[in-house]
Amino acid sequence: MSTLTKIGTTLAATLVITLSGTTFAADGATTYTAKGCSACHGADGKTPIMPAYPKIAGQAKEYSSQQMKDIKSGARNNGQTAAMKGIMAGVSEDEIEVLSVYLAGLK
Ligand code: HEC
Repeated sequence: MSTLTKIGTTLAATLVITLSGTTFAADGATTYTAKGCSACHGADGKTPIMPAYPKIAGQAKEYSSQQMKDIKSGARNNGQTAAMKGIMAGVSEDEIEVLSVYLAGLK
């Protein structure tokens, strides 16, 4: 492989990573608003409408996605999860991934 080809390959790879990163962020913000998450957790993910509702901005994506899956499936079930479960019926596994990446990226 020539040096030029190597540089080209590296640039292309960087571009793909950068572009997909940007797309993910935009999708996350759009999905977060479109699914109504902001109504309870706040537009920034840390100004919940009720003191008993959690701040979710900056949470690790592995944790957030698992909680969303568990609330959706009913595995996590307590007095407060009922508020969110109805919303999760309309949120797919892919959207959960996008949302949890988005939340992890918030300050
Ligand atoms: C109707 C209000 C409501 C809406 C809408 C809502 N949530 Fe929630 N959410 C809650 C409540 C209440 C809890 C806490 C449940 C509990 O106490 O177990 C919660 C918990 C969570 C958790 C787990 C937090 C933790 O620390 O364990 C995450 C992540 C989350 N919500 C993300 C979302 C996302 C993303 C959306 C949009 C798809 C959303 N929520 C929509 C009310 C809501």
